[in-house]
Amino acid sequence: MAILLPGGAGFIGSHTAVELLNAGKEVVIVDNFSNSKKEVLDKIKKITGKDFKFYELNYLDREKLEKVFEENKIDAVLNFAGYKAVGESVQKPLEYYHNNITGCLILLETMKKYNVKKFIFSSSATVYGEPERIPLTEDCKTGGTTNPYGTSKLFIEQILKDLYKSDNTWDICILRYFNPVGAHESGLIGEEPQGIPNNLMPYVARVAAGTLKELSVFGNDYDTPDGTGVRDYIHVVDLAKGHVCALNKLDKENQGLFIYNLGTGKGYSVLDMVKAFEKATGKKVPYKIAPRREGDIATCYADPKKAKDELGWVATKTLDDMCKDSWNYIIKSSSNKK
Ligand code: WQD
Repeated sequence: MAILLPGGAGFIGSHTAVELLNAGKEVVIVDNFSNSKKEVLDKIKKITGKDFKFYELNYLDREKLEKVFEENKIDAVLNFAGYKAVGESVQKPLEYYHNNITGCLILLETMKKYNVKKFIFSSSATVYGEPERIPLTEDCKTGGTTNPYGTSKLFIEQILKDLYKSDNTWDICILRYFNPVGAHESGLIGEEPQGIPNNLMPYVARVAAGTLKELSVFGNDYDTPDGTGVRDYIHVVDLAKGHVCALNKLDKENQGLFIYNLGTGKGYSVLDMVKAFEKATGKKVPYKIAPRREGDIATCYADPKKAKDELGWVATKTLDDMCKDSWNYIIKSSSNKK
């Protein structure tokens, strides 16, 4: 029985493919490389020493997707095929809703047709909007998202809840990611943002590498210890392992809808991140204070207790690991490009 990963060549999908293969699972990846590269597939093989089936297709293409279900015995689906750039989603709402929501609907309909009912969904802490309280527990109120990317996650969560209500033989796990950063320790796979990065860590790494001049710190007048925004940064390998634990839970439970925060439970400010990066890499990260970015909140971090109690999962990598591994990936990938 195989695990299907639409978007498995992307940042989180590729790291999860590695962890699933390491755990002895059979994997089938589907990707159209809209935000990833073909070489990633060989790198996954190199890291794990294992092979897997791959289909180059857009998961919106129902006919091609059905063929994958016909040719493989799929047991579960982990959906990584979402667009994820917050700013771009504001410019292109229809594209975002179409890709993320229609894509997910086609996937779920196809699963239903082939009687595959185990599904893990990549959601985001962004569904909590302005946090009701900190740390965020899974029962905190959701809603009030400020961009189509976040709203697409919120809508899909609702679709999954409705689906489960209509047929409780589904086995669904919603994972709310906090701020995924870092890269595989091999330096072979990592985050490859297109153009100028929007997220903090890839931006900091490029400033340290000298490809960007300086970091703009978006606001230093928040109600936080140093005035800059506080987030729960989580190493992508820890996050990937969370998916393996979630899959084990679904295998064991056989029916249910579960929601988990995947975060470390620790909050770090923008300036904490700059300092940690400088310390881990020995590189300078010049920065200036800039106005607040629209839609940002002051503080966001998880209470990860539910995932610990029910999945047996905890994030083990440190902030130093996150910085070192991000940097290692930048160095290795730029030397490969030369
Ligand atoms: C972190 C902190 C910024 C860039 C977003 C999405 C979320 C998830 C992850 C995924 C904030 C500050 C940033 C910069 C800065 N989505 N910052 N200068 O906004 O917490 O979450 O990414 O794919 O759904 O909303 O992450 O990394 O953009 O920002 O000062 O150049 O860094 O203001 O306090 P965010 P981020």
